[in-house]
Amino acid sequence: MSSAKLTYNGKEYEYPVIVGTENEAGIDFTQLRAQTGAITFDPGYGNTGSCKSAVTFIDGDAGILRYRGYPIEQLASASRFSEVCYLLIYGKLPNATELNEWRRLLTQNSFIHESMINLFDHYPPTAHPMAILSAMVASLSTFHPDSNNEDQLDTTIVRLLAKAKTLAAFTYKKTRGEPIVYPIAANSYAANFLYMMFSTPAEPYVISPVIENALNMLLVLHADHEQNCSTSTVRMVGSSGANLYASISAGISGLWGPLHGGANQEVIEMLERIVADGCDYKKYITMAKDKNSNFRLMGFGHRVYKNFDPRAKLLKEACDQVLKEMGVKEPLLEVAKHLEEVALRDDFFIERRLYPNVDFYSGIIYRALGIPTNMFTVMFAIGRMPGWIAQWREMRAEFGNKIHRPRQIYIGEKERHYVPVEKRK
Ligand code: SDX
Repeated sequence: MSSAKLTYNGKEYEYPVIVGTENEAGIDFTQLRAQTGAITFDPGYGNTGSCKSAVTFIDGDAGILRYRGYPIEQLASASRFSEVCYLLIYGKLPNATELNEWRRLLTQNSFIHESMINLFDHYPPTAHPMAILSAMVASLSTFHPDSNNEDQLDTTIVRLLAKAKTLAAFTYKKTRGEPIVYPIAANSYAANFLYMMFSTPAEPYVISPVIENALNMLLVLHADHEQNCSTSTVRMVGSSGANLYASISAGISGLWGPLHGGANQEVIEMLERIVADGCDYKKYITMAKDKNSNFRLMGFGHRVYKNFDPRAKLLKEACDQVLKEMGVKEPLLEVAKHLEEVALRDDFFIERRLYPNVDFYSGIIYRALGIPTNMFTVMFAIGRMPGWIAQWREMRAEFGNKIHRPRQIYIGEKERHYVPVEKRK
């Protein structure tokens, strides 16, 4: 086992280096503060490993993404979202018997407590679906108070996965003032979501295999992404002993930000703005390079991927295929492709290694499926549900009841004494 030497305050220290399955190295500083009195300083945790994990592997330079060792390209083209959920959470692809039982449980648990349906009625029609989803997921713990019992965790997991899509579809219906439609047993996970979104009590939505498969692939591509902002939030909240619903509700809120999952909605709004502005995409490339413009090319850049995001590549191919099979002409796709083309030849983007990420093309497919823009980040959250659950479950097993508690460098006032208000200047 190799080690790292540190000289500090005239003394020498040695720390072990841990090496991962794919040879990533981490200096183990768990004893640093006890031995030196100093802490590491790494705002935003860009150089800090918060855990060991066996769930997902990313190589940002090589553009590799694997769920439990399986390449994303194979899972995106061949697997169903329900089996990817099982794979991420339980660490293996289910055999036929396990998969049938898993699907039966997911269907059986797709309904929410009837009293929950009334909760939707108290939001304004303009409420953002992410606010409702986060609140409703946290509220599941009030209808399932045993959710945090160790012997109930598998039930809690399947309840959350199954109900998340129902809560999302009901949110869509309720914010439009339309009657909700319940899931049916014959449908797959993706098909039931579409069925609940687009059926009316008078007319069931006819599921097209093209649309069902496109949504299935989108869900698979979003299923996990190791220690990103929202997943780290889920682990942090879960480390306090909070139940799974509360932990995932926090993750949903973290995902909502425009720098994270909220970017897929921002990308479409940006593309619509460019189309409305005469498709002058070069003007927006210039703005993105101008720090004073306060404009970013949404859907571009990534903290980890520095050559390409494999999910963006797959989504770009899928855009062409899905739109062609649906016979849809989408001007936003042409603008997106021009933006990518120009940006990837521009030194500003090349020097900063900025490429399309998962959010750049995903919204164009959601839009083609008829999903409204303000529901795009909800779609990201539904897809990411199994990854958050898998990471939370791994943290619980690895950390037990050890709460996460980062330190800080204090830069505030030195000690000073209270002055009564009448004596203050
Ligand atoms: C997701 O972490 C994950 O894995 C997340 C995710 C997942 O699956 O969970 O992959 C999902 O969140 C994808 C990212 C979606 N967000 C966006 O598309 C928003 C636009 N992108 C950026 O805001 C940014 O690229 C981030 C947030 C994605 C990454 O930010 P970093 O790593 O902190 O990079 P940075 O902001 O420090 O930028 C480095 C440089 C800066 O220029 P300089 O100060 O060096 O001159 O690149 C510039 C930035 O100004 N830059 C951009 C840019 N992104 C970075 N300039 C224009 N347009 C952009 N999109």
